[in-house]
Formats: sequence, C-alpha cells, structure tokens
Amino acid sequence: MRQLLDEAAKGGYGVGAFNVNNMEQIQSIMEAARETKSPVIIQASRGARAYSQDRFLYHLMIAATEIYPEIPTVLHLDHGNSVETCKSAIEMGFTSVMMDGSLMADGKTPSSFEYNVDVTRQVVELAHAKGVTVEGEIGCLGGIEDGHGAGLDGLSHLTDPEQAVEFVKQTGLDALAIAIGTSHGAYKFSSKPTGETLKMQRLIEIHKRLPNTHLVMHGSSSVPKDLQDIINQYGGKLKPTWGVPVEEIQLGIKNGVRKINVDTDNRLAITGAIRKVFMEKPEEFDPRSYLKPAREAMKKVVALRMTQFGQAGHASDYTPIPLAEMAKRYETVAA
Ligand code: G3H
Ligand code: 13P
Ligand code: ZN
Repeated sequence: MRQLLDEAAKGGYGVGAFNVNNMEQIQSIMEAARETKSPVIIQASRGARAYSQDRFLYHLMIAATEIYPEIPTVLHLDHGNSVETCKSAIEMGFTSVMMDGSLMADGKTPSSFEYNVDVTRQVVELAHAKGVTVEGEIGCLGGIEDGHGAGLDGLSHLTDPEQAVEFVKQTGLDALAIAIGTSHGAYKFSSKPTGETLKMQRLIEIHKRLPNTHLVMHGSSSVPKDLQDIINQYGGKLKPTWGVPVEEIQLGIKNGVRKINVDTDNRLAITGAIRKVFMEKPEEFDPRSYLKPAREAMKKVVALRMTQFGQAGHASDYTPIPLAEMAKRYETVAA
C-alpha cells in the first residue's frame, strides 16, 4: 500500500479503501476498478476475517488478482486491535495493516499516547521487515454502532496536530488516520455537516505540519439520500441522516488525504437492491436473483467514488513492487 499511496501523492489523488466480507463485494470492487482503470485497496475488519474464516478471504483475494492482473491490489487490515491481530494478518498475506492503538484492545476504551506509540511502533517493526505497510490512528472516531469506537460523538477526541507530529516521528508509520468529527456507520451527522461538526480546518492544519505523511479519512461514507430512499421505499426503516459530502473529501485530497475508508455506502447500496427484489418479486428464491443486482449496485457506488477520488485512470501508472523489495527499502530508510 505504501507504493500505491506514494503514487497517489505524486498524482495528487486519493484512493478509496472499501470493506469486504464476501465474494460479491470483492467482485464489485474489482469490476469497478477494471471499468475505471483504478488501483485498489480492499480492506477487511476483524469481523470480516471471522466471517470469512480468514482462508476464504485469502483465496478470494488470490482469485481477484488472477482474474484482474492489470489492477494493482492491496489487501489491508482495517482497525487491527492488537499487535497479535496485525501479526496474524501479515502471516496470512495482508500487504498492509492498521494498528488502531487509539483504542485499547477491547476496541472501545480510548488509550494513552504512550500505549498507542508502543503498539504502533511494534507493528511497524514487524511489518516493515516483511515489506508490509502500516497505518496508525491518533485521536478517536465517534460512533459504536458497528462495534468500533468508544461510543463518543465524533468531536470528543479530535486529533491534536502537535501530538500527530510526535506520533509520526516516534512510530515511523506509513499512513496516519486522524479524527476530524466523522464516525463509523450511517448516523454521522443530524444535518448537513458544517465547519463546526466536520473539522476540515483541523485536517488542513495537520497536513501543514506533516506535509509528507499520507493522511487517512475514516468514516467517510457520504450516506447519499438516494440510497437511503431506496431502502425506505422497499420497507426499510432508516432515520434521516447525513454523511461526509464528497466535496469535503475532495478538499481533504487536496490537503494530503490519500486513503478514504468507505463501507456504509456499499452496505446501503447492497441492502437497497436486495430489498427491491424481495418486494417486487416475492416469488423469487434463487439467491442470484438478488445478489446480482446487489453486486451491481455496489459496483456503481465504488466506480463513482473511484472517479470522484481521482484514482480512476491510474491503474497502469506503475508496476507493483514485491514485498521483499519493499522490505529492503524500509531497511535502507531505517539505517
Ligand atoms: O470500521 C468499520 C468498518 O465499517 C467495518 O465494520 O467491523 O462491522 O466489519 P465491521
Ligand atoms: P463508513 O462507516 O463511513 O463507511 O466508514 C468505514 C470505515 O471507516 C472503515 O474503517
Ligand atoms: Zn474506520
């Protein structure tokens, strides 16, 4: 992933990191990447690893790289909660890991700066020795509905720019996730976010102090009204809600954001498409009759984001560097 983010920085674009749990989601992303000629970050949470028993995920990713050899593809661990979790991901073949030491291993309790530096530094050492990229997080995101987070609102643990500088210096990580008011899941903002609720100025300040660090925006689904409406039109019960507007993400990309995490928008697209088939064709019982439209709906969202983030058209700009070669590069930088 380090190479992919370096290329994105050179080209001044961002790269979406899309969560997966199953075959259809991987297919959606790879098809969107082929259509838009985009490099790809596929990410799996601890929940996704458990759901797919790890080995299914592994073999599905091998299939993805066999079927789409022209697409540079990263497999990234999302919100690793401990050094052990990151280690097992690296052993399985993830080419990038997130050590989220902003929270304790329970994934709920905000940690101390010292704890965060300690666990992140350990992961950097073991990951870089294998050529694997490391993302860390400083400050805490809001929300708990998807099982992550301290259950706080998005503004309680914003990233402190000075601490961010110190964190990068002490850990040697490759990419830094920051907290600027976003949260995971569908319920981020109760009205269109303003500078009071989504702190883009804070992001700009961090980028000014860390111009060479790849920034990561979590909780970056836009939760589009049309996707909410489809779900509700076909029997769903989503409450009115707002996500992160794409133009704010684009402002972030102009200010050092290279990785943008999106899961919820794809969940909404899939659920809406399935609900529509269930309601319109209650006689259907072949899973393909609803999984195909679901896959297509997710592909459309991913392709749109790839275009909006600017990664479209960049798949063939470079040849992926093998992990062993990356390990040598990290060794040289560290020496
Ligand atoms: O960061 C959260 C992602 O949306 C993954 O969520 O833990 O429910 O798989 P999950
Ligand atoms: P969303 O819930 O906004 O899609 O965020 C996903 C995320 O940050 C995964 O780490
Ligand atoms: Zn996240």
